[in-house]
Amino acid sequence: MDDIRLVEVGPRDGLQNEARPLTVADRVEMIEGLIGAGLRTIEAGSFVSPKWVPQMAGSGEVLALLGRREGINLPMLVPNLKGFEAARDAGAEEIAIFASASETFSQKNINCSIDESFERFVPVLEGARAAGMRVRGYVSCVLGCPYEGEVALSSVVDVARRLHDIGCYEISLGDTIGTGTPRAAAAMVKAVAAEIPMSAVALHEHNTYGQALANILACLDAGVRVFDSSVGGLGGCPYAKGATGNVATEELVYMLEGMGIRTGVDLPKLAQVAIDTAAKLGRDPVSPISKILAARA
Ligand code: HMG
Ligand code: MG
Repeated sequence: MDDIRLVEVGPRDGLQNEARPLTVADRVEMIEGLIGAGLRTIEAGSFVSPKWVPQMAGSGEVLALLGRREGINLPMLVPNLKGFEAARDAGAEEIAIFASASETFSQKNINCSIDESFERFVPVLEGARAAGMRVRGYVSCVLGCPYEGEVALSSVVDVARRLHDIGCYEISLGDTIGTGTPRAAAAMVKAVAAEIPMSAVALHEHNTYGQALANILACLDAGVRVFDSSVGGLGGCPYAKGATGNVATEELVYMLEGMGIRTGVDLPKLAQVAIDTAAKLGRDPVSPISKILAARA
């Protein structure tokens, strides 16, 4: 089996919807813990409007405090040129832009249509190219939309192809509200991979309906090798009401390692980050196995 790459999105997706925002220092400590547990790609924050998502304010300070680390990739989410410039000036080496396969979700999440979002991305990609920064792309609502329900596969494929065409090196397919089921997920990634290389496809599962690991396994069998996850199963989008967290990184790592797939992640250390972060958020870790795994330390 080819190498699997994990993209930890806990410090961004995991925290952006929490009632109790974490301080910059707590976010740095969380990311240090994730690095210490062996994760190599960690989405460290976002440069979106603090009026829309106050939990991500101070993301530039988070990045500055972490500094550059050999072998560690800390992408930052950006919606537009303003966000890109802030990310670049804060020292980001990689950014992620985000589009939606659903028109209504695009309007609710970033206040513009799908086509308008691509107009905003053009100068972002130009700027990133000039600054030598890599750009990842997300497609939201690939297996359902909180406003429109079913989303046409043709729209998912079209938005993924457009992101790839404008220069995103990898396209993360977001099951934003976790409504996907395994066969639909596999059919969706295969349809996307008919247009862009499978090596450029990633899966971003939310676990609202408890389907995330099953969907990941189906997509692993279909050829996907990059998976997003969030420590402790934290996560959600403020503009996707009812959506719960991402697949928990510790559950994903446990499954992969059990299948003989090496991840390089130390499970007890990772589980401790889940527990410590949940405590700071004033809640239990969403993923129940974190307590069992942390006890093995
Ligand atoms: P807007 O109100 O249409 O923006 O919001 P605008 O261009 O009209 O500007 C309005 C104000 O926002 C201005 O400030 C701008 O300067 C400011 P004012 O003059 O009122 O003081 N502004 C910014 N400030 C900081 N950073 C920026 C920025 N841009 C404008 N980058 C905007 C449009 C995109 C900014 C807004 O809708 C927004 O921030 N949305 C972000 C929503 C978000 O973060 N959602 C969650 C992430 S996506 C997700 O979770 C899905 C994913 O996980 C995959 C999946 O699960 O499917 C990725
Ligand atoms: Mg998400």
